[in-house]
Amino acid sequence: MNLADGTTVGRLLHSPSEIAAAIDRLAGRIAADYRGKPVVLLGVLKGALYLTVDLSRALAQRADGPSEIVVDYVCVVSYGPGGRSRGKVRLLLDEAVPLEGRHVLIVEDIADNGLTLDFIGAFLRERRPASLRVCVLFDKPSRRRVAVPLDYVGLTVPDTFIVGYGLDHQERYRNLPYVAELEYQGSQPEPT
Ligand code: IMP
Ligand code: MG
Repeated sequence: MNLADGTTVGRLLHSPSEIAAAIDRLAGRIAADYRGKPVVLLGVLKGALYLTVDLSRALAQRADGPSEIVVDYVCVVSYGPGGRSRGKVRLLLDEAVPLEGRHVLIVEDIADNGLTLDFIGAFLRERRPASLRVCVLFDKPSRRRVAVPLDYVGLTVPDTFIVGYGLDHQERYRNLPYVAELEYQGSQPEPT
């Protein structure tokens, strides 16, 4: 795939079966930790769209997992110059899903500089959940600027811009069933 902006899909990092295996390992740990308890999986749009779907189904396959699983989404919107990378984000939450007193698990595609998860965590803690944990499929620790506690990490990735399985470059490549490095000209693109 060659886009007009000169980007291409480069080296394969994780195949669909590696991603499925990582999600299954996450589901095993989450099922054990939330055994017998109701949990709200709160996927962060749009990047965690696929992960939230697949993780929720992997959890459903586990005997002895959570007593109840509710799936919902929050939407993170960037604004201003620099967008997410400057931490200028706003969060849209469906007010019809009360979080007070509930066990909430944030499901996010990737922890990069950490600003997004830091912001989401602060926002959701104000809703007074009974517990709040974070699950990411990918961790890119080399770029972290804010320390964020990650309770469940699927795979660690190097400091390159990656696409696929929900991760985009300017809204493209999300639907790739694998994760690959983005090939680009010039400096590394900033996430949008
Ligand atoms: P951060 O942790 O605040 O830097 O931002 C995390 C968000 O940036 C993620 O939810 C992704 O949407 C996006 N992001 C970070 N790294 C990448 C990448 O390598 N490819 C695509 N999107 C990324
Ligand atoms: Mg993005």
